[in-house]
Amino acid sequence: MNKKMLDALNGQINEELNSMYIYMAMAADLDEMGWGGMAHWMRKQAQEELAHALKIQGYVKDRQGRVVFKAIGEPQLTWNTPLELFKGALAHEQHITGTVHKLVKLARELDDIATEVFLNYFVSEQVEEEDAAHEIVDALEKVGNSAGPLYQVDSWLRKRE
Ligand SMILES: [Fe+2]
Ligand SMILES: [Fe+2]
Repeated sequence: MNKKMLDALNGQINEELNSMYIYMAMAADLDEMGWGGMAHWMRKQAQEELAHALKIQGYVKDRQGRVVFKAIGEPQLTWNTPLELFKGALAHEQHITGTVHKLVKLARELDDIATEVFLNYFVSEQVEEEDAAHEIVDALEKVGNSAGPLYQVDSWLRKRE
């Protein structure tokens, strides 16, 4: 694999692990706020990010590339409300979509068809991830600060498998 492509994929492994770390911090803060269902959803999200990192690691290996792990930064630890927190998650997913699209453009530039096809999964995945985050932000915006409806959102998110 081209060195530029390999470096970029290693960079994406770091982005995915960083996402995992951010979502673990968000889950911990949701637990702290007393929203166990939302925390459960966010912990599932963190697990998905680990799966993304592993998927890229597997691809790099299949292409005879060397996986390089870089440092992960300290995540934000507290948020004022679930709405603010989920808005942060949405913004982060939008950032990740940007990084995925950059990888696709690089694969095209380098005429690396196999990597471009591999990345298709992540392009579609980001559409779903942003949609899921939008749906929760919308719900939280509607319910505002009323405890009853917030509990409903919490039990809805607790159902995530
Ligand atoms: Fe991801
Ligand atoms: Fe994600």
